[in-house]
Amino acid sequence: MKKTTKAAAFAALLCLSTGAVSAGAASAQSVPGSENDTPVSRGEYVSRLGDCVACHTALHGTAFSGGLKINTPVGAIYSTNITPDKETGIGNYTLADFTRALREGIRKDGSTMYPAMPYPSFARMSDADIAALYEYFMHGVKPVHAPNRAVEIPWPMSMRWPLSIWRAMYAPSPKPMNTQEGSDSVERGEYLVTGPGHCGSCHTPRGIGMQEKAMDGSGGPVYLSGGAPIDNWIAPSLRDDPIQGIGKWSEDDIFLFLKTGRIDHSAVFGGMADVVGWSTQHWTDSDLRATAKYLKSLPTVPVEQRPAKDASATTQLLQSGNTASNAGADIYLKQCAICHRSDGGGVNRMFPPLDGNPVVVSDNPTSLVNVVTYGGILPPTNWAPSAVAMPGYHRLLNDQQIADVVNFIRNGWSNQSKGTVSAADVQKLRTTGAPVSSAGWNTSSQGWMAYVPQPYGAGWTFSPETHSGVDENQ
Ligand code: HEC
Ligand code: HEC
Ligand code: HEC
Repeated sequence: MKKTTKAAAFAALLCLSTGAVSAGAASAQSVPGSENDTPVSRGEYVSRLGDCVACHTALHGTAFSGGLKINTPVGAIYSTNITPDKETGIGNYTLADFTRALREGIRKDGSTMYPAMPYPSFARMSDADIAALYEYFMHGVKPVHAPNRAVEIPWPMSMRWPLSIWRAMYAPSPKPMNTQEGSDSVERGEYLVTGPGHCGSCHTPRGIGMQEKAMDGSGGPVYLSGGAPIDNWIAPSLRDDPIQGIGKWSEDDIFLFLKTGRIDHSAVFGGMADVVGWSTQHWTDSDLRATAKYLKSLPTVPVEQRPAKDASATTQLLQSGNTASNAGADIYLKQCAICHRSDGGGVNRMFPPLDGNPVVVSDNPTSLVNVVTYGGILPPTNWAPSAVAMPGYHRLLNDQQIADVVNFIRNGWSNQSKGTVSAADVQKLRTTGAPVSSAGWNTSSQGWMAYVPQPYGAGWTFSPETHSGVDENQ
């Protein structure tokens, strides 16, 4: 895995946000009925809903000119130039071509796209939103001459026809939803989450063909119940599950998290930091409210009942300082307690609490090991402009020590987690980038599907250089 320095990572983060802004997106909040409510400004806003810029911009690249490297288990693919340049971009796309690309994943030349482009979700986008988006890309974005880069997947895996089989088997047929912009209704929230926001592409587990197991609430408790690792970050459950999901979060918590990246009891990191930084912080308040309402409206997921555990025993142990016989507690006290506190409560909006934190108790500890190993940067947002960093411990702690402290917090305070992380798990993640294996998620890579680049899953990385957690000198 390529490492960048901390400074470069910071610069990258800043440049991600400013780069996107200089593409003319600063005024993304087009209020319906107001004087800046033109098709172009509406389309610009829809592009924020769909986070087109995040994938269609290379590291340090010009917005929408493509070239972001996406690794798959069999080789790299690159996002494409979607500026209106006639030679190298989508300048020759008609509205019909553009609609087909978004909803069905078919390019103008008839070839099927890799489902890294979240067209199965975009299949729900309304005609009006796609038309506005088209206006924006044709008239609001400057053409950039930047030829697309060829996929780096060796033949025969590079053949695109298996992708059309995938599309036929798994991609939903277009089902546009019409909702009212400016309304904070549950329906509007459903549209945003299942459609342009494509939240399920990370938060819903994948099936045997790596398709999302459910595309909306009608798919039952599996929908948004937590995804497989991407870049070694796990997108946790967004369902009403008090332990692994966001059952304890209020509507206001969700609203504030998506707008600012931090709330009293959680802070954004990993892949979600990109989502907040590039997309949701630009959403209107009514759209964020609708999203929160929709997530809270999903039926409660039945969870295994566990007897509550008293958190004070761990706090007392740490406060007594008698941790010599408990390796994990000892490391916690020396390295972590200064920020995350002895009671695991953290510091509001600065250092996330570790007690009762879904990331910590997740059945799959990959994200947790990753954040302790490589650290993370809480990105600055327009509403909370300070960047706060979590140091990476890959130099200071060896594999066994990382495993010890991780196991300690997974069962410290009121936390109760399944399984233990071994030194070998940490070593594997550190040296090969392979996620920590566990029973929490299961994706089969059996059969012919294993030979075709699948959308997301193990082995996929969306340009890890842009991610805050993977830099070298923290
Ligand atoms: C998660 C990453 C991701 C997001 C988000 C995303 N795209 Fe894409 N898109 C891709 C990739 C990767 C490709 C290239 C697919 C391929 O080569 O098969 C692509 C291809 C396309 C194409 C085909 C262009 C061509 O070269 O013919 C269009 C049009 C497009 N995207 C538009 C959009 C728009 C508009 C949005 C926002 C609403 C968007 N994309 C959001 C990853 C993404
Ligand atoms: C690129 C993958 C990706 C996409 C797309 C994505 N998320 Fe996330 N999300 C993550 C990851 C990884 C985390 C865990 C890190 C964190 O908590 O910040 C996360 C965490 C969250 C959390 C906090 C959950 C917790 O228990 O800490 C919320 C709420 C959330 N996402 C909502 C959304 C919504 C709403 C959308 C769609 C608009 C969305 N996400 C789209 C990857 C993604
Ligand atoms: C200098 C203060 C500091 C120290 C020391 C520190 N952390 Fe953190 N930690 C943070 C910050 C800030 C974040 C949020 C990072 C982000 O959002 O990317 C964080 C995030 C985390 C998370 C992710 C939780 C979430 O919801 O975002 C875990 C787990 C974690 N730290 C564990 C540890 C452990 C274990 C140690 C000791 C080995 C440690 N931290 C030491 C500041 C610190």
